Amino acid sequence: MKLEDGRTARTLQSSVREWRRSVRSHSAGLSPSDHKLLQQIVGPGGDETGYFYGGFTTSIGIRAALRLIGKRITDFKHILDFGCGSARVLRWFQDVQPRSELYGCDINEDAVDWSKKNIHFAEFTLNEKLPPLPYTAGFFDFIYGISVVTHLDEELQLAWLEELARLTRTDGIVMLTVHGRDTAEKDLNAEDYQEFLSRGFLYRRATTLSTVEGLPDFYQVAYHENEYILRTWGQWFEVIGSIRHGAMWRQELIFLRKRKTQTLTLPVLGDLPLCVLGAPTIGSAPDAELPIHGWAFYPDQRAAELDIWIDSTLVARVRASLPRPDVAEAFPGYPTALASGFELILPLKGFTRGIHIIWFALADKHFPMAASHFIRTEGLVDDFRRAITGAVYRARTATAEAVYRVRCAIRVRTRLRRLFSKLF
Ligand SMILES: C[S@@+](CC[C@H](N)C(=O)[O-])C[C@H]1O[C@@H](n2cnc3c(N)ncnc32)[C@H](O)[C@@H]1O
Repeated sequence: MKLEDGRTARTLQSSVREWRRSVRSHSAGLSPSDHKLLQQIVGPGGDETGYFYGGFTTSIGIRAALRLIGKRITDFKHILDFGCGSARVLRWFQDVQPRSELYGCDINEDAVDWSKKNIHFAEFTLNEKLPPLPYTAGFFDFIYGISVVTHLDEELQLAWLEELARLTRTDGIVMLTVHGRDTAEKDLNAEDYQEFLSRGFLYRRATTLSTVEGLPDFYQVAYHENEYILRTWGQWFEVIGSIRHGAMWRQELIFLRKRKTQTLTLPVLGDLPLCVLGAPTIGSAPDAELPIHGWAFYPDQRAAELDIWIDSTLVARVRASLPRPDVAEAFPGYPTALASGFELILPLKGFTRGIHIIWFALADKHFPMAASHFIRTEGLVDDFRRAITGAVYRARTATAEAVYRVRCAIRVRTRLRRLFSKLF
């Protein structure tokens, strides 16, 4: 199905091309097998599938959010993943090279070590509880921090906000996720919620221990009110707006620009249901039909009607209303979670061989809420052939990785040569 607005269709096609570049350049097959790391990063019950899916979906959300303000990730020269964990999100940005350089930092030594060993296209730094980071002022033009300030007390949070402002060049972009008012309302008892409303901020001990296990004691749970963000973060940043929920589930993405412009309101740029695309899983190779399932629900009573897309083709419109007791169990206090499921089987006839991005958005909107990708093998039905396709896919990405390493080596050699020629 074609979009009526030609400009939107072009933008969409260009976004999909960008997402496919991300998949093609991604060095597949790596994931932190350490169970504790997965728990901290993916959440309770976290596994490799969730790590790949969550990272991919979040990276697509970041790219789409940037497009809302007329930017692409490749517009930025130096990009920092603040609190990168084990590169769950950063690993999907390999395609920005060689135009942009990627950096990650975290306080978790295991996660930083893992990233250094496994992700060779970015530079990782272990940082201390308190700033500074070892970069010069204004070095970064884009910084994002997924689920980081959601864990810091006020003193640490403000110290880090000031540091991120120091590191960002004028007009640079910062994106941070927070637990907003509606999540606070669900989580907090009446007394704590009142305190949250009056102060605009609340920090308390985590109730799900697996997400903070093995981490320093200061790493707990924080909630932010819009007014508070405008008042405090507004000291350093223009607050551009927020994108609520979507793949961030109970969190909101707050969008900031390093600028001395006072912002009086915090516009909601996207108000999305909490959601997951459960199948197809990342990198799967379906036969003639593609089973698709997932869930989506708004925290309030609104119904979630979704458009399912493959690349830039709209393939189905569904209402997320099938019973999902497992989702209701995972999100106690959200009654709409109980009837949030959707599923369908899509014939793949007509889809060419190769990588396809599957994603969904609210009906008649084009902001991707969750995404995965599959490989169309067309006709290669038996297991043996499918295994070969998988191996070729892995070999291709390994080759991309090897080419990258050679490029790096050449770059280092050139730099050394320059240095030697200056010295002698
Ligand atoms: C829930 S995890 C999210 C990791 C990663 N952003 C992701 O989305 O996969 C939060 C991360 O923030 C890191 N973190 C917490 N405080 C930090 C700080 N002051 N500086 C750097 N990283 C921090 C933790 O170590 C942890 O890896």
